Amino acid sequence: HRFERDKRVNLHGAMSEIALFYQSMLLQNIAKPAVSYLKSRGLSKSVVEAFGIGYAPKHALMNQFGKTADDKKRLLEMGMLGENDDKRTYERFRDRIMFPIRDKRGRVIGFGGRIIDSGTPKYLNSPETVLFQKSRHLYGLYEVFQYHPDPKYIVVVEGYMDVVALAQFGVNYAVATLGTATSTEHIQMLFRSVDTIICCYDGDRAGKDAAWRALNAALPLLDDGKQIQFSFLPDGEDPDSLIRKIGKEAFEELLLKSMGYDHFLFESLSKDIDLSNQQGKTKLSALAIPLIKSVPGAAHKLLLKNAFGTRIGMLDARQLDQLFNAYA
Ligand code: UTP
Ligand code: MN
Ligand code: MN
Ligand code: MN
Ligand code: MN
Repeated sequence: HRFERDKRVNLHGAMSEIALFYQSMLLQNIAKPAVSYLKSRGLSKSVVEAFGIGYAPKHALMNQFGKTADDKKRLLEMGMLGENDDKRTYERFRDRIMFPIRDKRGRVIGFGGRIIDSGTPKYLNSPETVLFQKSRHLYGLYEVFQYHPDPKYIVVVEGYMDVVALAQFGVNYAVATLGTATSTEHIQMLFRSVDTIICCYDGDRAGKDAAWRALNAALPLLDDGKQIQFSFLPDGEDPDSLIRKIGKEAFEELLLKSMGYDHFLFESLSKDIDLSNQQGKTKLSALAIPLIKSVPGAAHKLLLKNAFGTRIGMLDARQLDQLFNAYA
């Protein structure tokens, strides 16, 4: 165990060193296209610094940190090198803008790397390593606590650029999941720090799906006093593009008016159901009741139950109880 721990400490140190190195690369001539790209995205120098954004030129990592076989082995463990089928190693991030991902204590545990301008894949993320598990880390969470020791709520967005752009405009309480669905562990982590989570995903199909998955992850964690809300952006917008158009105040207005999870739940569940007939009502019952019963908060549960009763036109509490008791 001691050895494993020492090894992790060393890897953390090495990752932070690499992050600083990438940051320093932004000052080199070779980074000119990267710097103008950041400028073209409207990012200020100070927000780039606050998030430790850097640049990974081709070969720079190997030249600087990968001299010996031991070094390479460590870079592999950190996910900074990949390995081909024939065991040949390659730099994972080449000619990319680098977003360091930190754990709650601020230690760099991985990176997101964006291609400059266009190309695929647009973003590359660190693979799962001993340091980094994407279901357990959120981009920007450490930075939120740098801005606010005790935030009132936290906004969950889809992308790196969204977090950074929002922070630049003063909405400095946003985090992003890392190319993955919002997990129960993510929600658990957030509810340990705040009572209210606002999910604010892109205004497209993928964004709607992401919101639905987040809701399902959150329901079993909804104690009374905890709240999760949903903000749906106009189609084609993401938080980055939108706040640049409408500014901080209008964006925060939008967050304040975000949809309660109960509304989103019932709207989603009854989307393809005709509630004017018995078949529709029974169908909604089968979908909604098990979900409602999974909610731990007694007040949440009762409110959902009543809202459900209203939807299917069953206003008698005893009948509703009977119906709920029929489901596991
Ligand atoms: P988006 O494509 O919406 O990213 O994907 P974005 O942040 O708005 O990108 P740009 O820079 O403004 O164009 C949302 C998130 O999904 C993950 C990344 O975490 C990204 O921030 N993603 C996206 C990947 O992991 N790989 C990809 O190829 C694309
Ligand atoms: Mn504050
Ligand atoms: Mn999208
Ligand atoms: Mn974007
Ligand atoms: Mn986006």
